[in-house]
Amino acid sequence: MIGKKLIAPSILSADFGMLASEIKAVQKAGADVIHVDVMDGHFVPNITIGPLVVSAVRKATTLPIDVHLMIENPQNYIEAFAKAGANWISVHVEEGYHLDRTLSLIRGLGIKAGVALNPATPLESLREVLPGLDFVLLMTVNPGFGGQKFIPYCRDKIRRLRRWIDEAKLGTLIQIDGGVKESHIGDLSKDGADIFVAGSAVFESANYRQAISKMKKAIQP
Ligand code: DX5
Ligand code: ZN
Repeated sequence: MIGKKLIAPSILSADFGMLASEIKAVQKAGADVIHVDVMDGHFVPNITIGPLVVSAVRKATTLPIDVHLMIENPQNYIEAFAKAGANWISVHVEEGYHLDRTLSLIRGLGIKAGVALNPATPLESLREVLPGLDFVLLMTVNPGFGGQKFIPYCRDKIRRLRRWIDEAKLGTLIQIDGGVKESHIGDLSKDGADIFVAGSAVFESANYRQAISKMKKAIQP
């Protein structure tokens, strides 16, 4: 899919009153992907945005839009997010009985398909679907809010998934999401992550360009 390591700012920490200019600013500052956190107040204890806002994001950027669905019954909303302009969609393995069907639905719409795992969910839960995935999203905080602390035991999970992917010679990318900061992003890259979601580390910095370029420098292989 992609050969280099990517920084994906999460708009959850952006100023929603000026969302379009925030997105343009991070694109200009060197972001590779725009990460959009969709929450329904059921799967996670927070409510954020839906397809309407993704359409607005689409108009503000030429970068790929990565939609992280933290919702119940994600299969019911895939088409709406595809129409709104999503390029990548991830669904949680903890939600829904028919993961394989939902993934087929995503791929059938020409969208990159990912599976997301909460910190406490074992990697084994995605073993069967791994070969068909474009990416795996490993949550490194409990989903629901930006600005939380990275959960240390997730590092071992990143390393184990890296080994699985390399041993099977798959092109699946590892995305990590939650508590990613410039101070340890280099270590997480060495653990084997490919795509780094960063919300507060980017949007709460005084200078987006500086924040992104420091992180990019730290993740170089
Ligand atoms: C949390 C979201 C994350 C969040 C990351 O449920 O999935 O994408 O925005 O924010 P930071 O980087 O601040 O932990
Ligand atoms: Zn996310």
